[in-house]
Amino acid sequence: MAVSHRAPGASIRVADAAGIAAAVEALDAGGLIGLPTETVYGLAGDALDPGAVARIFAAKQRPADNPLIVHIAAVGELHRVAAHVTPLARHLAADFWPGPLTLVVDAAPAIPSITRAGLSTVAVRLPDHPVAATVLAAADRPVAAPSANPSGRPSPTTAAHVAAELGHAVELVLDGGSCPVGVESTVVDARGDHPVVLREGTVTREQLGVAVRRTTAERQRSPGTRYRHYAPSCPVVLVPRAAISAVLAGQSPSALDRTGVVASSRTLAALPPGPRIIAGFDDEVDLARNLYGALRRAEEAGVSRLLVETVPERGVGRAVMDRLRRAAAQP
Ligand code: TXA
Ligand code: MG
Repeated sequence: MAVSHRAPGASIRVADAAGIAAAVEALDAGGLIGLPTETVYGLAGDALDPGAVARIFAAKQRPADNPLIVHIAAVGELHRVAAHVTPLARHLAADFWPGPLTLVVDAAPAIPSITRAGLSTVAVRLPDHPVAATVLAAADRPVAAPSANPSGRPSPTTAAHVAAELGHAVELVLDGGSCPVGVESTVVDARGDHPVVLREGTVTREQLGVAVRRTTAERQRSPGTRYRHYAPSCPVVLVPRAAISAVLAGQSPSALDRTGVVASSRTLAALPPGPRIIAGFDDEVDLARNLYGALRRAEEAGVSRLLVETVPERGVGRAVMDRLRRAAAQP
């Protein structure tokens, strides 16, 4: 057994042939695995096995009304999960798969009710990650995988994040390194003639050719977006770039020492000494990649609050600000 690291309850496995075989065996047996994707790590189980899906809900303590995303290995498998594939879904799949775009379509009868939380629709995506691709192809079945975090916590972007919080619930975590995108997929309702964005992600409204302003249909959003989410144990405060120095200025040295900062490199360069620098970023794409890791590092540093510089709400910035606002929301 090629165990690269052992955390309480879970083996982080190298994603070599033996690791992949063990992962597929676990899925076959109705077990759960930690699966790397390009966005975040998933808590993966057989999407067609209600028992496996029930274990996913239990492990995450996920509300039963929040449906899961089903992952497939090839565009041609869409018919295994969808009752009806609209021309729009076909176009979006052709343009953006494999990639961080999830399509909501009418569910095939084979998808158990628990997987779709009783809805008549199912969310499906084809991830762009070599480890996920190999596992999905070898498993030869649709795989349900929500982000591998307990509900409400920051999503995991490394195998160690999964092992630390959900290691007890999985047979193994496949190590796929750090997730290159860092925030969850864009979720789009693809049942009509035009995409309806239900969750922002790094496939942007600009790329999808939809209005930047949210429409009435979009305000319904995805069930999962109703909840406070992504929150670290310390309060998160969002601060525009121009205000960061002023927010820090009034503080005593001991208060400063308990204040963490996540800000752009140019803001950090101009910051007075005192606060704990948790992470810097170049632009919103870089912040997306490092966001959840930074929230976890702030917890580990034991800061009593975390200031995060806001980014412009355009392109990937919209997904980043969506996650940040929910991390900063009061419980
Ligand atoms: O990038 C991702 O999407 C990651 C990786 C692991 O693939 N998965 C992920 O899953 O973020 P999760 O469960 O954390 O978020 C799924 C989101 C939730 O907001 C959920 O409400 C929404 O997708 N969703 C799932 N099925 C849906 C459906 N039938 N209709 C509307 N929204 C749905
Ligand atoms: Mg999630």
